[in-house]
Amino acid sequence: MKNRVLVTRRIPPEGLAVLQDHGFAVELNPEDRPMTKLEIIGSLNGVDALLTQLVDPVNREVIEAGKSLRVIAAYAAGYDNIDVPAAAERGIVVTNTPRVLTEATAEMAWSLLLSAARRVAEGDRLTRSGGFRGWAPLFHLGQGITGKVLGIVGAGRIGTAVARMSRGFQMKILYWGRTRNEEIEKELAGRKVELTELLKESDFVSLHVPLSAETRHLIGKKELELMKPTSVLVNTARGPVIDEAALVLALRAGRPFAAGLDVYEKEPLLSPGLADLPNVVLAPHAGSATVETRARMAVLAAENIAAVLEGRPPLTPVGG
Ligand code: GLV
Ligand code: GLV
Repeated sequence: MKNRVLVTRRIPPEGLAVLQDHGFAVELNPEDRPMTKLEIIGSLNGVDALLTQLVDPVNREVIEAGKSLRVIAAYAAGYDNIDVPAAAERGIVVTNTPRVLTEATAEMAWSLLLSAARRVAEGDRLTRSGGFRGWAPLFHLGQGITGKVLGIVGAGRIGTAVARMSRGFQMKILYWGRTRNEEIEKELAGRKVELTELLKESDFVSLHVPLSAETRHLIGKKELELMKPTSVLVNTARGPVIDEAALVLALRAGRPFAAGLDVYEKEPLLSPGLADLPNVVLAPHAGSATVETRARMAVLAAENIAAVLEGRPPLTPVGG
């Protein structure tokens, strides 16, 4: 009997090729949309491995329906959509795709930072719609970046990569996280501070914490009020880390100066008023969306599945 793998949404062919090379029977969602929870549950009978997207609700109900499941491979770094303890109780291994998307996501954070600070997206809209009436000394002023303070909230791999990329801009680094980050301290002369201090002192704040009960609404009204009126907030982590309604009010009041968002509280919906603000750059959850990275994520997710089904340790188990 072939091992069966359910892939909930089409992924780059490199990943499917790995699964086929290992002789697995691949069942692929034929439609170009996410599967619903009921569709996933209805497809799990006899399935050994589930390759899932970050929008799939892999909760206890789904996990308990997967009677023959041995591995759940998230096609993502973040796995807040998966009930990991419920999987562990049943001896199901959960894996994710860290490392391969670190630089791509850090690049997106920088794209949003630069665009929000220098009003690139807003300027593009203005220029296209005939609003550019010629150069003027006080027209379209943004915030400078070189030599300023960059605050990294959550100094894991992606946060560290964002900090590293600031070198060309000669920025001073502050960071907040659970553990000390030697690379940021030694190589970038960064300093670990309390979140309050980071928010008060930073000109740019970039979020890189995973979503959990502790980080939900980590940035709310009170925190936004600590930020400088000239500051820029960037979120490439998970939408609910920011209280989006509070952010709309804060941006409307001009403090922070601007924001760059790749993720939203109720994706793909936007909080009322967000899209009307000129001082926010909105990306469509595309942090890892480069051709190279998405292919590497597909291969890594498939290799994790192959390892577990063939009795080897997974390459990147969650929490590992
Ligand atoms: C994307 O958001 C991911 O977690 O991979
Ligand atoms: C990315 O892989 C991270 O853990 O920050």
